[in-house]
Amino acid sequence: MGLVIFLMGACWSNRIKAVSPSNTGFTSRSVSRSGYDTNSNSRNSSASIPATPRSEGEILQSSNLKSFSYSDVRAATRNFRPDSVLGEGGFGSVFKGWIDEHSLAATKPGIGMIVAVKRLNLDGFQGHKEWLAEINYLGQLQHPNLVKLIGYCFEDEHRLLVYEFMPKGSVENHLFRRGSFFQPLSWSLRLQIALGAARGLAFLHSTEPKVIYRDFKTSNILLDTKYNAKLSDFGLARDGPTGDKSHVSTRVMGTRGYAAPEYLATGHLTAKSDVYSFGVVLLEMISGRRAIDKNQPSGEHNLVEWAKPYLSNKRRVFRVMDPRLEGQYSNNRAHAAATLALQCLSMEPKCRPNMDEVVKALEQLQDSKDTQKKRSDHKEHHRMHGSGLGRPASGKGSVDAPRKASAYPRPSASLLHA
Ligand SMILES: Nc1ncnc2c1ncn2[C@@H]1O[C@H](COP(=O)(O)OP(=O)(O)OP(=O)(O)O)[C@@H](O)[C@H]1O
Ligand SMILES: [Mg+2]
Repeated sequence: MGLVIFLMGACWSNRIKAVSPSNTGFTSRSVSRSGYDTNSNSRNSSASIPATPRSEGEILQSSNLKSFSYSDVRAATRNFRPDSVLGEGGFGSVFKGWIDEHSLAATKPGIGMIVAVKRLNLDGFQGHKEWLAEINYLGQLQHPNLVKLIGYCFEDEHRLLVYEFMPKGSVENHLFRRGSFFQPLSWSLRLQIALGAARGLAFLHSTEPKVIYRDFKTSNILLDTKYNAKLSDFGLARDGPTGDKSHVSTRVMGTRGYAAPEYLATGHLTAKSDVYSFGVVLLEMISGRRAIDKNQPSGEHNLVEWAKPYLSNKRRVFRVMDPRLEGQYSNNRAHAAATLALQCLSMEPKCRPNMDEVVKALEQLQDSKDTQKKRSDHKEHHRMHGSGLGRPASGKGSVDAPRKASAYPRPSASLLHA
């Protein structure tokens, strides 16, 4: 079916090791959350523009966002009731709340529209910076694949953000949480989600100046009722290089396991850094494994390092595929998705496709009529996983229960969606 998509030719290096993040200020989850960009030690410092070039007042005034009072958000969340917590992140908790869709005033539960309220634990000055960056970007940018920011609260020490509610939560929850609430995503839903998220990034990279997202990961991809993907969390985003500059120089920030190796090594940030992170997420989606997972056998903790040798080999790519997807895709499609991930993960940024090319490749993959799955595909798959219990293809939206519980890490502690 001619599904193998070579966007950039075979120019990736396959023997370069990932750069250790040990000297970059990474924490196990997020990098330098307490820090912020600096333009220091850059030869091109004049090319580095601050993430929030406008003043705080300008940003808050020019956005078309509602300014909520603290008593508004407190009422909307019923005083931040613990049982309305949707999730927890590096900056604090996210609560479910209710507001009137026209006046945006707080309402009783069940009346009006549901919103997600993110309350920042103000850990000094820097939480404020990220809060402002979110308003700066989401106050200006609108796209079907970006989460909608409705408003903010800026009162005394309080810093909150009010978003449209994304009923299906994060892709992270669906891929890695166990339990009856989160059934495994089918192959076609994974493709749909990858395509939506790719469109969101492609949009950011198409703006002038382009926006580099810098924190692309499964927990920042949220899903609406129809599993449309939307990017959230612009706290680390920043403007890309302008004029003839090739990159901006920044302090290294992001999340461990997702940041591009050249960015880790040099602090030079380009749109291709986002493409690398997209490759990591695509690999997580086809494998069902976390980018970094200490629960995997030794030698398999780092997903990219472990999976890379298998991705380029059509016969061995099944080693990487999520066993919960068994029977839902053909050899060709698996290979095409793996090839795309591998290209995004090229050590050499120039060899990575741009996000428009990634979108095209995923559209092609999604559109392809791939009904004639060969029996041999399945046989090979079963052999690779040591299982003879294959099921017939279950089609779109299927939620086959996982049979290999041991293959999946326990989720890190966090609250589930209410
Ligand atoms: N608009 C929303 N609608 C529904 N749930 C949301 C929304 N925004 C966030 N959440 C939930 O809250 C969780 C926490 O989000 P948050 O962005 O604070 O942290 P995170 O992305 O998990 O981690 P990090 O701090 O590293 O970015 C998300 O994973 C998601 O489950
Ligand atoms: Mg987030």
